[in-house]
Amino acid sequence: MRKPIIAGNWKMNNNVAATKALVADLAPLVKDATCDVVICTPYTSLAAAVEATKGTNIKVGAENVHWAEKGAFTGEISADMLVELGVEYVIVGHSERRQYFGETDATVNARTKAALAKGLKVILCVGETLEEREAGITAEVVRRQTKVGFAGIPASELDNVVIAYEPVWAIGTGKTATAQEANDTIKVIRDCMAELYCDKCAEERVRIQYGGSMNAKNAEELMAQPQIDGGLIGGASLKAVDFSIVVAAGK
Ligand code: PGA
Repeated sequence: MRKPIIAGNWKMNNNVAATKALVADLAPLVKDATCDVVICTPYTSLAAAVEATKGTNIKVGAENVHWAEKGAFTGEISADMLVELGVEYVIVGHSERRQYFGETDATVNARTKAALAKGLKVILCVGETLEEREAGITAEVVRRQTKVGFAGIPASELDNVVIAYEPVWAIGTGKTATAQEANDTIKVIRDCMAELYCDKCAEERVRIQYGGSMNAKNAEELMAQPQIDGGLIGGASLKAVDFSIVVAAGK
């Protein structure tokens, strides 16, 4: 009912040459995927990624977008600029942006609205830190991030926003949430979406990925969970074979 979506988050990796090489390796490996396949690349590699993925089933995403249409925002990139390049997706609110670049729930909301207004699909990230998990407030944190993140976004846009649940302590650490932990927290997020929109919307239209050290070894177990609709993959998305194994699990 909910089509799985496996997205690579390349972060600050792969220049243009490496992008072309990785897409060339990846495309034949994922051509029969039954899930949506996305690669999110640095801004400087987007044009090359769009070109290299033409005629394939791989979609291209950016890793951030500004909320304003244009203006005095040195170093920022607008949704129009991404659309012009042929980019279809954008990650918003990744925990590294929240942690190192002052991203807040309110700016996540502003970026999401700006992206949707220009027809981009958004991968909106939520997730608790280790301190928050240990304090027993995981549900509270992801509910707050979800509610503020979706403030003012109409139900008609639900097909265009994917939520990525990424426990911060599991990102790049090799520590994965257990499949059960991931499933349980994603259920909390889905219940929150049901409250914000409707039961049917949350059940049928809201896709929620897991992210955080998801890889070729654990993807199948994670994807077998009923609440998990895909993955946002960092480290393992940089290797074509590893990423293609995760994609194959996305069914
Ligand atoms: P990881 O990163 O797979 O390297 O843990 C996931 C992410 O940050 O999106």
